[in-house]
Amino acid sequence: MTEQQVGKAQPRAAKGEGATVGVALLGYGTVGAEVFRLLGENRDAFAARIGGPAEIRGVAVSTLDKERPGVPRELLTTDAKALIARDDIDLVVEVIGGIDYPRELVLEALKSGKSVVTANKALVAAHADELADAAEAAGVDLYFEAAVAAAIPVVGMLRRSLAGDQIQRISGIVNGTTNFILDAMESTGASYDDALAEATRLGYAEADPTADVEGHDAASKAAIMASLGFHTRVKFEDVYCEGISSVTADDIKAANEAGYSIKLLAICERIQDESGVESVTARVHPTLVPQEHPLASVSKSFNAIFVEAEAAGSLMFYGNGAGGNPTASAVLGDVVGASRNIVHGGRAPGENTYANLPIADFGQVQTRYHIDMEVPDRTGVLATISNTFAAQGVSIRTVRQEEFGGTARLIVVTHSAREHVLAAIVEQLGNLEDVINVNSVIRLDH
Ligand code: HSE
Repeated sequence: MTEQQVGKAQPRAAKGEGATVGVALLGYGTVGAEVFRLLGENRDAFAARIGGPAEIRGVAVSTLDKERPGVPRELLTTDAKALIARDDIDLVVEVIGGIDYPRELVLEALKSGKSVVTANKALVAAHADELADAAEAAGVDLYFEAAVAAAIPVVGMLRRSLAGDQIQRISGIVNGTTNFILDAMESTGASYDDALAEATRLGYAEADPTADVEGHDAASKAAIMASLGFHTRVKFEDVYCEGISSVTADDIKAANEAGYSIKLLAICERIQDESGVESVTARVHPTLVPQEHPLASVSKSFNAIFVEAEAAGSLMFYGNGAGGNPTASAVLGDVVGASRNIVHGGRAPGENTYANLPIADFGQVQTRYHIDMEVPDRTGVLATISNTFAAQGVSIRTVRQEEFGGTARLIVVTHSAREHVLAAIVEQLGNLEDVINVNSVIRLDH
């Protein structure tokens, strides 16, 4: 449904200066507990910033059997829906995680005229239209700063600070687990499996690391950033996604020797396809980044988002992109914003998808390839390989060769070309008698 089709509700009446904002907290994990603690400990400061106190009037949890130190027993409930429906609740804060159950709760809250703050990237990336429509129809706010890189102010920056500019490109390291693993591989020479084991031991990687290492978490964030940056709905399934599980220690070493670091980048950009049509793309894949680029120096589990805008130029935002405290900071910033509107009236700028640009086919993306091959060490091999590139109109930027007994390792870096052309070349290379194996293909950026 478009904005035009959704009935816009009358702005909700202001509660008035000094009024208390009743908050329902859904979820009491690491983030929920920090939100509860900080809102309670800084009650007066929050009241001053909002224009009235924000009071948590109920905390929905999955079981009452667990100890929740610091939370009065009477605030706890397992009936989230009943809590949301209460007349003394104005604002619902969702920090449960998952998709289906929080979707039900968030929709219920919005439909019953309660503003919502959520930290849930998977929910926002999968159901943004439905949620935005429900918020619009009810005349309430939907805030989700914590959904992208925790306290790094990405959502507010795209929604408000750069609302007067034209964003061309957003590229970022938006997953700390994978950045930790790639950084450990680079700094210690460890294999992927060993670096993942270390990330798990230190608590960066979850017991099931799939969502992080396969790029799904970063893809949700890419969908959100692209939607806000390009005023166009980009959903999770629109994002091309490759994770880091096939990156080897050899790939990292070869990249370093050529002056690059390998990072899992989320890249959102405006492009012109081959017919000249302006469209948008969002993708997540391991990427060679020149070591002098600021994104290459983002180490450990830190996140950074690099934005290129027409008037502002290049901007970079850096910090902790996960964890209880940084995520709670982003949630509480949203709580202040949403509560101010409840007290004083008005709404925050919602998502605006007016540009409605087409989503480009991934094949239309312009990129460069770093192709690592094993080839026989004999006359004419290099000529056959370079002809394969030339026949498709793709220019080679550098070639490096190392001897290994009777075979050679050949690393070709291309100039920029459309993804579908480069992918076709790699397929042809794989079928050449003169190529024993294509060891890896990694894209280059910046
Ligand atoms: N698991 C994510 C990360 C944080 O490693 O950055 C939550 O999106």
